[in-house]
Amino acid sequence: MTASRTARHIAAIDQGTTSSRCILFDADGRIVAVEQQEHAQLFPQPGWVEHDAAEIWTRVRSVVRGALERAGLTAADVRAVGITNQRETTVLWDRHTGVPVHHAIVWQDTRTEALCRELGRNVGQDRFRRETGLPLASYFAGPKIRWLLDHVEGLRERAEAGDVLFGTMDSWLIWNLTGGVDGGRHVTDVTNASRTLLMNLHTLEWDERIAESIGVPLAMLPEIRSSAEVYGEAVGDLAGVPVAAALGDQQAALFGQTCFAEGEAKSTYGTGTFLLLNTGEKIVNSYHGLLTTVGFRIGDRPPVYALEGSIAVTGSLVQWLRDQLGIISTAAEIETLAGTVEDNGGAYVVPAFSGLFAPYWRSDARGVITGLTRYVTKGHLARAVLEATAWQTREVVDAMEKDSGVTLTALKVDGGMTSNNLLMQYIADVLDVPVERPYVAETTALGAAYAAGLAVGFWDGLETLRANWHRAAEWTPRMAADTREREHRNWLKAVERTMGWID
Ligand code: G3P
Repeated sequence: MTASRTARHIAAIDQGTTSSRCILFDADGRIVAVEQQEHAQLFPQPGWVEHDAAEIWTRVRSVVRGALERAGLTAADVRAVGITNQRETTVLWDRHTGVPVHHAIVWQDTRTEALCRELGRNVGQDRFRRETGLPLASYFAGPKIRWLLDHVEGLRERAEAGDVLFGTMDSWLIWNLTGGVDGGRHVTDVTNASRTLLMNLHTLEWDERIAESIGVPLAMLPEIRSSAEVYGEAVGDLAGVPVAAALGDQQAALFGQTCFAEGEAKSTYGTGTFLLLNTGEKIVNSYHGLLTTVGFRIGDRPPVYALEGSIAVTGSLVQWLRDQLGIISTAAEIETLAGTVEDNGGAYVVPAFSGLFAPYWRSDARGVITGLTRYVTKGHLARAVLEATAWQTREVVDAMEKDSGVTLTALKVDGGMTSNNLLMQYIADVLDVPVERPYVAETTALGAAYAAGLAVGFWDGLETLRANWHRAAEWTPRMAADTREREHRNWLKAVERTMGWID
């Protein structure tokens, strides 16, 4: 059965760090139904973060079914499905049984820190930057694959024989959606591949020499495809529906925010925060701690590149306050608590839980709270937690302006944290530019839906999609310049204190 050409909906599967969602969109990019389920976060040791990929696949199937039921639709009403996903998280599975060989190692996990240092000494940082656009850091997938091959008995032999497959979450889901052990397609898209440290940014193919230097057999790697094309047909609840797009979640948000032109940027506030600037068909090298990555590639059109400022911990700092410290009982409560005080009371929180990402790339950093006096209350801490997200954004914006020469005039934002008005106002204040949120805040899923819709001709082109973008909210800067400068200096002093905790 093939999805009907008159089907009037596009499905997006958004497999994120803490939950999986299926969202159904209509032709105007409006949400028709959403279903969401969380999955377990496993912390086996300090600095280690794992997910059970089998659990994630179960959740994904269930949210697809749930969204269809909620909307009263069936597979015949869905023209195409697009995938978007947490990037870098690494799954290895047995191609004959479909069973993961180990828990997935999540992007936030720092266990490959020593391995990255060793690779830096043996191969050199520059070579990785030049060929892949990425610094050598525990964040990326390649070293995670190597760790699994080194630590799961007999795995390397099985991988070399082609019996074990690697994928980021997009590959794992596409393989399962298109039949799994019964002919599932083993593919990934350029945006996800550009986060592995294994793809050559210039050729958009696996770089054999780099894969060899990390110790990853090519036999286990998926085929790299564009972000918008039909990879195969789904089985199960979406039987016959073309699986027609895959984009890493941050690239999907760039697409969903319709940042199609060079110089357009967005920042997504989720577990972490990721600011991407479209640099067109040019590969812009970073000299200020940003990543060069693929923004999207539509079918056989030329790839569009991006500069990215990746911040590991923003929303997850609020979760930490809720789950580990119990200072708030829901994430939304942080705004009320922070609103009980006028300022941070002199306290600063730098959440270097996974080391520091952009612009520092210091795996040896660990989190700190500075400026504590007896005066400080939980309200001040709540405020300092929100301010940490704003200052981290400011640091990547500064780096982006230096690398690209583009001066930001406004920032398009999206993601769960954008419902926090206090935070959005503070970001506008510390950046000193207006912050704008679109009407459809689910830009990640929307981007995957747009790419899938383009691939099957559901939408006719980028201009049609642009017309769907409407501003829903705007925050304009209100902070006095001297306050901004003083707070910035204090923030930078606090950042300095995070470095060098791990030898
Ligand atoms: O690179 C990691 C990023 O893709 C995770 O995004 O939204 O799942 O926290 P999110």
